[in-house]
Amino acid sequence: MPKAKYKRVLLKLSGEALAGEQAGGINIQILREISVGVKTAVDLGCQIGIVIGGGNIFRGVAASANGMDRASSDYMGMLATCINSLALQDALEKAGLPTRVQTAIAMAEIAEPYIRRKAIRHLEKGRIVIFAAGTGNPFFTTDTAAALRAMEINADVILKATKVDGIYDRDPVKHADAKKFDSLTYIDVLNRGLQVMDSTAISLCMDNKLPIITFSLKDPANIARVVSGEKVGTIVS
Ligand code: GTP
Repeated sequence: MPKAKYKRVLLKLSGEALAGEQAGGINIQILREISVGVKTAVDLGCQIGIVIGGGNIFRGVAASANGMDRASSDYMGMLATCINSLALQDALEKAGLPTRVQTAIAMAEIAEPYIRRKAIRHLEKGRIVIFAAGTGNPFFTTDTAAALRAMEINADVILKATKVDGIYDRDPVKHADAKKFDSLTYIDVLNRGLQVMDSTAISLCMDNKLPIITFSLKDPANIARVVSGEKVGTIVS
């Protein structure tokens, strides 16, 4: 049985991942598969915090591009992450994983408020902590929330699960000859404008020397592979 190379990680899931092949919304079967993947990683001895996006329900950036006030649309996006977080909590607990949701925007009837030291205690007790409502501020993405929470909980690494199996020099969906990178530096990512995370999130990771591993969630067993130290996807460090 392999052991966890990373003892504490921050897993960033995109909201779209929950939709699966659907145009939007939440696909319960996908949630189940993700939960089994997370459980396998927990069984290796890894503590996991999770930040999930909200794009399957509402995309703040897209709405503001269509003329909506950016702050309002970002707050709506933060509420979407809360819906996803509750759905994920339900699925994780059905898979046998004790879970706590903490929100950056107070909604005490629905979930605990975000309290850093409490989140760390939950992790130490083997609970998954899902950080909902982004950073609580408009104009920041859930990628930036993931970078911030990762640093706050002293995570070893950010695991960014996407639809693509790593970082390519160009969009691999549009270009059959796109080249995949095994590793990159933060500066490479920023200079080349590679779409890994937004520049605020990358800069935050760079300033605090927090590595990012991006990999595909199409096979949720990848979560445990990455946690055990297998070379999957692309590492930015
Ligand atoms: P320990 O202190 O380690 O026992 O952690 P705990 O989370 O089990 O204890 P606590 O009594 O704080 O929480 C019990 C349950 O209530 C957990 O499911 C929490 O997520 C939930 N809970 C705690 N605080 C809040 C809150 O402010 N709002 C909501 N909605 N639930 C909360």
